Amino acid sequence: MRAAVLAMALALAPAGANAAEPPGASACSGCHTASRALDSAVPPIAGRPRDELAAALRAFRANERPSTVMGRLARGFDLAELDVLAAWFAADRLR
Ligand code: HEC
Repeated sequence: MRAAVLAMALALAPAGANAAEPPGASACSGCHTASRALDSAVPPIAGRPRDELAAALRAFRANERPSTVMGRLARGFDLAELDVLAAWFAADRLR
């Protein structure tokens, strides 16, 4: 499953740019830390299933899911950009 998610994420990236951070990704990592050792109130997103992250982001954007900050943040991106971010974080490249 993990390998399949990674393969899907890599397939989305343009050829030769599979390590390039998508626009906006650095705006997420300040709150969603890569460290699983940290006891944070912000839910971890790194390495989670891509579809799960994409669905959550779309729901925040559509105001279908209650949030403190994520609705406002998600509305700053279009759907394609949110899907790219979901794939990026699903592949656990949060640093
Ligand atoms: C200001 C801190 C902050 C930033 C920046 C931030 N998040 Fe969040 N995120 C949260 C909080 C807090 C929640 C819990 C929902 C809420 O209250 O908004 C959350 C929830 C989520 C969830 C749902 C996780 C779950 O387990 O249900 C996803 C997916 C997510 N964020 C992705 C992102 C992405 C992608 C970005 C960058 C565009 C981002 N976040 C930027 C604080 C942040």
